[in-house]
Amino acid sequence: MATSKLFSCLLVQSMLLLLVLDAANAELKVGFYSKACPNAEKIVKEVMDQVMSVAPSLSGPLLRMHFHDCFVRGCDGSVLLNDTVNLPEKIATPNLSLRGFTTIDRVKAALEKACPGIVSCSDTLALVARDVVVAMGGPGYDVETGRRDGNVSNAFETRGNLLPGTANFTELKSLWQAKGLDVKDLVALSGGHTLGTSHCSSFSDRLYNFSGTGRADPSMDPNYVARLKLKCKPNDNTTLAELDPGSVRTFDGQYFTLVAKRRGLLTSDAALLVDSESKAYVLQFTTKGSTFFKDFGDSMVKMGRIGVLTGNSGSIRKVCYKNN
Ligand code: HEM
Repeated sequence: MATSKLFSCLLVQSMLLLLVLDAANAELKVGFYSKACPNAEKIVKEVMDQVMSVAPSLSGPLLRMHFHDCFVRGCDGSVLLNDTVNLPEKIATPNLSLRGFTTIDRVKAALEKACPGIVSCSDTLALVARDVVVAMGGPGYDVETGRRDGNVSNAFETRGNLLPGTANFTELKSLWQAKGLDVKDLVALSGGHTLGTSHCSSFSDRLYNFSGTGRADPSMDPNYVARLKLKCKPNDNTTLAELDPGSVRTFDGQYFTLVAKRRGLLTSDAALLVDSESKAYVLQFTTKGSTFFKDFGDSMVKMGRIGVLTGNSGSIRKVCYKNN
């Protein structure tokens, strides 16, 4: 009897140890929720298909939201938090133009209904980003899941981590390197600008006062400058211009054709032509045999690994805009 008690005690102990080790080694993986919430990805897709059918213009903002989440404190859902002890990331300048937070709440509510407390907000955002890309005709790719949510969100941490549209190639490359991303990732993910719009204020220096010269950016096609000037007057903070005019709601490689023709809208888009390595990727992505779709999916997966919390770290928020 004593031996069997000792045996079961040891068994329980070693099982607990295995569980702890498992949690400590926990990593992201495709299908993380296959047992705990088998329909998780299906639920996200269903809600997103509904949202995209009535509000396709949210595709750009929602894709961008995942990027902004990952570049500040890692992909931990911190961009979604409303009020923490700090002023949250949401109120920082680069995030003021984000939209679609209520869509995330809607998706998360559907997930909570099916599987309470299982699917993190950071994973919800990563899945939503993939599903909007697919809904707009872009590549499907396997999203790794298993992220947990952070409980800190600090507006000041966006500084230096979310660069403005005026960023040059050196700034972009070094930030991306610091995040573990290379030039190929930079070019492929900039292809996210195939969707959505930009405020005139994010690029109007290129039209009216490039580098304080009082003239337009000489690296921008002058015909394009003239057309944009009709739309964007100096000091206009409200008008929106399409990042990829003509196919703003289609996820395709047209963005790279425009960049190659010196019609990239932001300085950071035009910067991809400055460096020979990034230029070669831009040109590759304009060809018939372009690997853009495959490379975009690969780079999204890589970006989705930045600074993630897994295992026992972080939590699973019930509601994405507040800590439990
Ligand atoms: C390479 C560095 C990047 C810079 C400097 C940058 C900067 C910007 C800026 C300034 C805007 C316009 C914001 C506004 O004025 O409303 C914008 C929009 C956008 N960005 Fe980026 N971005 C970068 C990379 C990315 C990446 C990696 C993605 C996603 C994979 C992305 C997705 C988007 C989308 C979809 C929009 C349109 C949003 C909308 O329609 O509201 N960007 N970006």
